[in-house]
Amino acid sequence: MAKNKQNFVCQSCGSSYHQWTGRCDSCDGWNTLVEEIISEKPPKGLGEREGKKIEISDLRITSDKQERFFTEIQELDRVFGGGLVPGSAILVAGDPGIGKSTLLLQAIAAVSKFNKSVIYVSGEEGKEQIRLRAKRLNLDESSVKLATATDVRNILSSLKANPTEVVVIDSIQTMYLDTLDASPGSVSQVRAAAQEFIRYGKESGTVILLVGHVTKDGQIAGPRILEHMVDTVLYFEGDRGHQFRIVRSIKNRFGPADEIGVFEMTSQGLTEVKNPSSVFLNGLKAPPYGTVVFAGIEGTRPVLMEIQALVSPGGAGNPRRAVLGWDSNRLSMILAVLERNTGHSFLTNDIYLNVVGGLKIKEPAADLAIAAAIMSSINSVPLNPETVVFGEIGLSGEIRPIAQSSTRLKEAKKLGFINAIVPSRTTDKKLTGISGVKIKSINQITELPSLFKIQTTKQEMHD
Ligand code: TYD
Ligand code: MG
Repeated sequence: MAKNKQNFVCQSCGSSYHQWTGRCDSCDGWNTLVEEIISEKPPKGLGEREGKKIEISDLRITSDKQERFFTEIQELDRVFGGGLVPGSAILVAGDPGIGKSTLLLQAIAAVSKFNKSVIYVSGEEGKEQIRLRAKRLNLDESSVKLATATDVRNILSSLKANPTEVVVIDSIQTMYLDTLDASPGSVSQVRAAAQEFIRYGKESGTVILLVGHVTKDGQIAGPRILEHMVDTVLYFEGDRGHQFRIVRSIKNRFGPADEIGVFEMTSQGLTEVKNPSSVFLNGLKAPPYGTVVFAGIEGTRPVLMEIQALVSPGGAGNPRRAVLGWDSNRLSMILAVLERNTGHSFLTNDIYLNVVGGLKIKEPAADLAIAAAIMSSINSVPLNPETVVFGEIGLSGEIRPIAQSSTRLKEAKKLGFINAIVPSRTTDKKLTGISGVKIKSINQITELPSLFKIQTTKQEMHD
């Protein structure tokens, strides 16, 4: 007989421990361990019994149609990696209330327009609630099918009886298997339920879209344990305070990862923002000091974003470092390099850094823009507003070359920028080919202060 074993499972990363501890050693989460009963059969070898023959096929594509389902919402099809691949499983994760249900309802309603059968299964809301939302989104005439259920066995039997091309499960934390003792939302239920849905999807060629909540207190099993089980992981970035919603593909087996889709939350749901740079720039003619425009690359697209720094005299005690949208360790590194090379000490300064619009920048290419924003704030000298900045800073203060410089500059030019501060060593040969953008190259961080004065303005260019 199988023995039941007690185990403490981290609700955030899924690691299990024999004893309760306050902090999970593997993901550093606090208070994330919850007791779960795991039935453990003793491991056995395969024995003598012959298995069934599995189907062995060619790698070559034999039928030339690798069909994808499109939503024709460009921002969304892009983060899906160019439409939805039949049989794939996609996890859409984000904080509660950020817009996951809204986005997926809009997405499948869009897919259903192309004569695809789609179903929205909700374990969180009643049918009337969902119908009301659909009405608000002007989707009440759509052919989307609706179900409210949480029992995985019932859902799968019903799906098998009514074959469907795209299924939304909202949310995976509400689903449960009647064969497990654990309560819905626990790691074992979430993992097992996801496994059942994903298996059904692969067998039947159905696209499975799973909604997953992320909570900071770890009460509900974090969708992080699902990341390796699904083909694509989309995360909502930004917070509910902003009207813009950024959906980022952090993993995609069918397209480029790190692609972003930008949406605006309106009274008619999420509408796509086709020119994301416009969201992250405030369009001020004379931006205040401490503001610098970074020409970044998000996924396959160039995006310009505004970075703001505020360096203020700190009070007594430890100086504050408040960072939004950027890695705070990387900020410490930039501060250390600036201290060493410019002679300014930040020991008594509070520093606030913000990426406008709620985007999270991951590229080291933003180093130079951040350094420039900090320098601009300390010296109360604004950088010329028609300037974009990019470049990685090395520990000895050297400015390192970065990839795709010309793509960044082209985007800057398109949006009316006429100056660029870029690394002097560049990997792009065609850099000089961008006419109309005055390039100032920089080799060492010590050259940065002098660049604040010599920027061209539009009048001078026209003279
Ligand atoms: P929702 O999709 O329910 O979030 P999630 O499923 O991630 O929990 O979105 C909820 C928020 O979106 C809610 O605060 C209201 C807002 N909202 C709008 O602003 N406009 C709309 O048309 C809809 C449907 C929702
Ligand atoms: Mg929801």
